[in-house]
Amino acid sequence: MITVNGDWFALETANTGYYLGVRGGLVENLHYGARVRVENSVPLREKTDIGYGGDVVYRAESAPLSLEHLCLELSPLQKGDYRAQSLSLVMPGGARTADFSFVCARRLEGSVPPEGMPAARGGAETLALDFSTPEGVAVTLFYTVYPDCDVITRRLCIKNGADAPVTLEKALSYQLDLPGCDYVLSTFPGAWARERHEACVPLTPGAHVFGSTTGASSAFCNPFFMLCAPDATEFNGDAYGFNLVYSGSHMGCVEVSPWGKTRVAAGIQPEGFAWTLAPGERFETPEAVLTFSRAGKNGMSANLHAFVQEHIVRGKWAKKDRPVLLNNWEATYFDFNERKLLSLAKDAAKLGAELFVLDDGWFGARDNDAKGLGDYTVNRKKLPGGLASLAEKVHALGLLFGLWFEPEMVNADSGLFRAHPDWIVQTPGNVPATGRNQYVLDLCRAEVQDYLIGQLSALLDSAPIRYIKWDMNRHLAGVSGAFAHRYILGLYEVLHRIFDARPDILLESCSSGGNRFDLGMLCFSPQIWCSDDTDPIERLDIQKGLSYLYPLSAMGAHVSASPHSQTLRRTPFGTRFAVSCFGCLGYELDLRELTPAELREAKRQVEFYKKHRMTLQYGRFYRFTLPEGREAFSCVARDGAEAVTGHFRRLVHAAPAFEKLPAAGLERDALYEVGSLPPLLRISDFGALIKHALPLKLRADGAIMRRADRLAGLRQAAEKYRASGAALLDGIRLQNLFSGTGYDKALRLPGDFGSEIYLITRVGKAK
Ligand code: DGJ
Repeated sequence: MITVNGDWFALETANTGYYLGVRGGLVENLHYGARVRVENSVPLREKTDIGYGGDVVYRAESAPLSLEHLCLELSPLQKGDYRAQSLSLVMPGGARTADFSFVCARRLEGSVPPEGMPAARGGAETLALDFSTPEGVAVTLFYTVYPDCDVITRRLCIKNGADAPVTLEKALSYQLDLPGCDYVLSTFPGAWARERHEACVPLTPGAHVFGSTTGASSAFCNPFFMLCAPDATEFNGDAYGFNLVYSGSHMGCVEVSPWGKTRVAAGIQPEGFAWTLAPGERFETPEAVLTFSRAGKNGMSANLHAFVQEHIVRGKWAKKDRPVLLNNWEATYFDFNERKLLSLAKDAAKLGAELFVLDDGWFGARDNDAKGLGDYTVNRKKLPGGLASLAEKVHALGLLFGLWFEPEMVNADSGLFRAHPDWIVQTPGNVPATGRNQYVLDLCRAEVQDYLIGQLSALLDSAPIRYIKWDMNRHLAGVSGAFAHRYILGLYEVLHRIFDARPDILLESCSSGGNRFDLGMLCFSPQIWCSDDTDPIERLDIQKGLSYLYPLSAMGAHVSASPHSQTLRRTPFGTRFAVSCFGCLGYELDLRELTPAELREAKRQVEFYKKHRMTLQYGRFYRFTLPEGREAFSCVARDGAEAVTGHFRRLVHAAPAFEKLPAAGLERDALYEVGSLPPLLRISDFGALIKHALPLKLRADGAIMRRADRLAGLRQAAEKYRASGAALLDGIRLQNLFSGTGYDKALRLPGDFGSEIYLITRVGKAK
């Protein structure tokens, strides 16, 4: 795992190796990637016997050595390394030069978490490398190995041992140099309701800088990014993944140097960041997560999924199957009362749901988003019996009870703001910015933290609440980078103090959908709401983007009403389920608006999901690359006993080609039973064409057609057959698609946005 061999160190996981070498006062990265077996560092050492025109020589005694050509784990500042560095300082006296020199290496047991910030747990060993400047400014680089999931975490801590203040202008969590530059960079940018759409660019000379300045890890750009070999696929090739255990503004930088090396650096957003360290003070950066796989992007994702499930998500819910929930938001928005909620809950219970979540609007004067936020006393007009009484009634229906709140924010029109107008984030002399009619509470202040902790704790203890949706619906504005960081530290403190004492509560974090989907929040909330966009076709991109780095057990995904409130697109009921079941399933619609046929279908969906949810939430996950905008995901149970595969289509095409669905993770010599779960189709979608499928003549827009839709629907024939793993791994030959040449029961009839689910169950050994 970690070996300290005089002047070189090896950090090894099951399949990866991170090798470091000391050269004078510098520490070089000798190799990070697949594990290489070496007895000494010579084969990995970079040869630097010649200099180049223009080089700045690091130290006269080591000429022609220039920092520009080395792979450096920490760069002495202003000494000839012109690439982006992890640190930028104003030293005592105003100089920006900091000649960090390596002092010693220490091997420590387990993980060494930073103070006041969430971090991974359960690492095997940590390597600490100490550096110091002549003035006494000390930096320690921490590396922790997580051998089973091929992850190495990194962070740094800087301590001012000088006798005057030091200002940190940039304090990233790490810098890492890779010797080549033949990589494709994937970032995950987006916006509200359009989060995490993968964006790929081949690296070119110069810096690619990305990140967020909104005060949150942000829908604009997730802290996660990948570097892959140009020929890497989902299943083969080199893939590096990088992430941060952090929920605030962040920056990532991938820079190709004029000498063809790639520097990767990421951490807290340095824009507007200035953090003064008095003598004796220290600053810790968030932990960064690095992984590598030779088995393509799916291999890299498998490392990160295991890492999140084993080392990030904690507490009672960490490895527990997640309840199927019904959330009232898209069903009622602010317009509800107890009768309406209980009727929804009753329908949810009939469906087989296990948790009823009461979303925004249950407190104060909160009848719309312009008022009441911050006043968490129940609105007695809507809920005359109060929360405890509602929760008990929901319990009596056999459901757990969950509740929404948005503690970080306040409306101007609220009792809280009237009582404490000074508690909001504001710059003296400036009108504070609003967003969704709300101000941000200053979580840096102890009295605001104490108030929130006291108020929310009392609320949680006042009723049997088993789930909380913690929302946050606007960006920060008008604040410095240092303030934004302190805000996040304040948030972590509040979350710790409320939820450590209440381990039974399942926390789902949310921020206008997926505006704060990150490893920092996952240390508190085992699942996060992916997006306010519940249109399954949009969700394909959103959930696929997330799946590169987060397991399905972390993603809240709901079936909603169609046409969808975000796109006006109409989608089949089956597809809404098929996409949501690759996540933590919920329903978020007025169930009374479903037809009897759809309600029966929803019941089947929930039954199916519950039966296979350990596979879907915790199984080994695979993405496949398919043509024509189709997508397929598959989850294989940890014990290999079954796989659930979803096949999703955007638009259908005429005269469709024969389709083969890829499979993965199956045993070649096992025998499997393949079953399909054909979705329910609406008879009216066939219009006048239905006459070719049914023996009787029906008017396309007639009452009988509408009644048939409501009561029955049409189902294509299910498939069922046995095959060896080897045969299935060659691709599952799908039934023919409808192609306009006639109707046959065996045809698949997905239509636009259609989908299919296949269940592949191991039944024995193949002959
Ligand atoms: C934004 C969330 O993402 C929604 O799911 C919902 O909870 C609303 N806020 C409520 O205001």
